[in-house]
Amino acid sequence: MKQPNTQHKDLLAWVEEVRQHCQPDNVVWCDGSETEDQHLRQLMVNSGSAIRLNEEKRPNSLLVRSDPRDVARVEKRTFICTKTREEAGPTNNWEDPAVMKKKMRSLYKGCMRGRTMYVIPFSMGPVGSKIARIGVEITDSPYVVVNMRIMTRMGQEVLDVLGTDGFFVKCLHSVGYPLEGRSDIPWPCNPENTYITHFPEERLIMSYGSGYGGNALLGKKCLALRIASAMGRDEGWMAEHMLILGLETPDGKKSYVTAAFPSACGKTNFAMLVPPKALKDYKVTTVGDDIAWIQPGPDGKPRAINPEAGWFGVAPGTSYKTNPNAMDSCRRDSIFTNCALTDDGDVWWEGMTEEPPQHLVSWLGEDWTPGGGKLSSHPNARFTAPARNCPCIDSEWENPEGVPVDAFVFGGRRMNNIPLVFETRDWTHGTFVGATLSSEQTAAAEGKVGALRRDPMAMLPFCGYNIGDYFRHWLEMGEKFGDNKPRIFHVNWFRKNKDGKFLWPGFGENLRALAWIVDRCRGQANGKDSPLGIVPEYHDLRWEGLDFSENQFAELMKENTENLGEQIRSHDEFFDKIGSALPPELKAEQEKILQRMT
Ligand code: GTP
Ligand code: SPV
Ligand code: MN
Repeated sequence: MKQPNTQHKDLLAWVEEVRQHCQPDNVVWCDGSETEDQHLRQLMVNSGSAIRLNEEKRPNSLLVRSDPRDVARVEKRTFICTKTREEAGPTNNWEDPAVMKKKMRSLYKGCMRGRTMYVIPFSMGPVGSKIARIGVEITDSPYVVVNMRIMTRMGQEVLDVLGTDGFFVKCLHSVGYPLEGRSDIPWPCNPENTYITHFPEERLIMSYGSGYGGNALLGKKCLALRIASAMGRDEGWMAEHMLILGLETPDGKKSYVTAAFPSACGKTNFAMLVPPKALKDYKVTTVGDDIAWIQPGPDGKPRAINPEAGWFGVAPGTSYKTNPNAMDSCRRDSIFTNCALTDDGDVWWEGMTEEPPQHLVSWLGEDWTPGGGKLSSHPNARFTAPARNCPCIDSEWENPEGVPVDAFVFGGRRMNNIPLVFETRDWTHGTFVGATLSSEQTAAAEGKVGALRRDPMAMLPFCGYNIGDYFRHWLEMGEKFGDNKPRIFHVNWFRKNKDGKFLWPGFGENLRALAWIVDRCRGQANGKDSPLGIVPEYHDLRWEGLDFSENQFAELMKENTENLGEQIRSHDEFFDKIGSALPPELKAEQEKILQRMT
C-alpha cells in the first residue's frame, strides 16, 4: 500500500470513508511519476486489458478494447442533482440529491472488492495557476489512472499545492464490477447500472458502471464542464466546450479564437489546422481542442486557458492528410481505445490511410479483412495523446494567465441551409445564435446518428445548471467584457449537395473562413448584410490554390429564405420549455430578427 503524502484532513477523511464503503483490497495514492505509470501499464498488459504496441512503430503506447456496451458517453444516465428540478433546468436529467446519493451509496457498497483503489490528485489548468482548479478522483480502474496522467496534470505536485486545507472537487468513480467469486475481465463495467451524477452545489461527482471517456475520466466533462460551468456562474467566468487556437497572419500579427462545436464535429481538426500550401504564410497554433475556461482579464478582454493537458480525440477520419498534427501527437506515449490492431503491432482506423491493411484485428477482437462490410474501429474510437507531443502547440498554452480572445465561433454539422460562415450583428444576436445552435448527432454519445438536435452552445450534455440561467450568464459576461467583448461567428463545414457530397473541402481549407473571421475582428475585411447576419462575398475570401468558383461559393453560402419567419418562430417551443428562466433579451432578439425581415 502506497502511503499518502499529504496532511489534508478532509481529503484523508474522505479517502478513508470511501475505502471503508467500497472495500478495496488496497489503496494506492498516485504520485504521477514515470515509474508508477510504467508499472500500471505493465499491470494492464499482464492482466490482458491492454496490448503493448510495437515499440518501434508506436513507442510507449497501448491499445485497449472496451466492452462493446461501453463505447461512449451515456447522456440518458447523466444526472444533475440540485435541490430543485428548476435549478437543473429542462435540458438535464434531474434527481433529488438525497435520493441519488442513497442510490449511489448502495451501488458503491463493496464495489471495489478484490480490486485496488487509486487516489488521483489532479489539476485542471497549469498547477498553481489562479484559474486552475484541483480535483481528486478515486477510481478502481488503472485505465483511468494512465489516461488521467495524459489528460491532466496529476500527482504529488498537486497535493503539494492543495496543502492542508485547499479546496478540491471530489470525484468518485467505480467500474462497478467487484471481484467476488469471479476473476477479472479485460474491460470490467456495469452497463445496467451506469450513472454519471453531479452535485454542483457541493461540487461533487459520482460515477458508476462505465470506464469510457467522459464517463470515467472525471476531470474532463464532469469537472471541467458540468461542475465548472456552475462554478463559473457563481464566480463570474465561463467554462465552455470550445477549442482555443492562435492564428498568425502574414503581417506577423497573432489573434486567438475559441470555437464551440458539438462532440465529434471537428474541434480537434480546427484547433490544429494546417493552412493550404498557397497560404502557408498563415500559421495556426493550438492551445486546446475541447474545453476553454474563460475569464475577463484586467482590461475586460476575455482570457482563455485549456484546463486539460492532452487530447482525447476521435480516431476515425484522422489521417496525415486531414490532421497531421493530431497524427504526430499520438505518434508515441499514447493510449488507443477501440481502434484496430495491425499485424505488425500498430493501430489503424477508418480513414487513416486510403488503402486499408489486408488484415487487422478489429476493435471487437475479431479477424478483419477489407470488404467485409464491417468497421474495424468503433466510430467513437479515441486516442489519448499528450498535448506536448503536438507539433503546433502554442507557445502560450501553459500561460497561467491564459491567452486573449478576439472571436467566439459556433458551428455544427448541418448538411442543409446553413452557409460556410457568417458573423452575428452583436453580442445579444451572437448569444441567440449560440442558444439556438443545432447539429446532426454523432457517435460521441448514444442516440440516432444523423438526427438534427438542438445543442445550445454545444453544451447540451455539459451544462451543469439551468440552460436559461446559462444564457443569462452569457449576456452578463458580455457586459463584463465591455468594449473588449469578442465578436461572435457561426461556421458550417458540412453542407452537402443533392447527391450527398460535401460542398466544401473542409480541413485545411477552413483557414479561408478563419482568416476572414480574424480580419473582421481587426476591421480589415468586408461583409454584407444578409438575413442570418453579416456574410463574406466571393472576393472577400482568399482563393489562392483552391479551384472554387463563384457559383460553387453561391451554392455554399445560399441561405434558406423560405419560411424564414417560421424558422425563427420554431425556437418558441424550446424557449417555452425554458420558461421564466429564459432571459427576456433572447425573446426580444427573436422579435428583432423577425422585424428586420419584414
Ligand atoms: P469531441 O472530442 O467529441 O468533442 O469532438 P471534436 O469536435 O474534437 O471532433 P474531431 O475534431 O475529432 O472531429 C470529428 C470528425 O469530424 C473526424 O472524423 C473528422 O475527420 C471530421 N471532420 C473534422 N473537420 C472536418 C471538416 O472540415 N470537414 C469534414 N467533412 N469533416 C471534418
Ligand atoms: C465529447 O463527447 O465531447 C468528448 C469525448 O470530448 S468524451 O470525453 O468522452 O466526452
Ligand atoms: Mn468534447
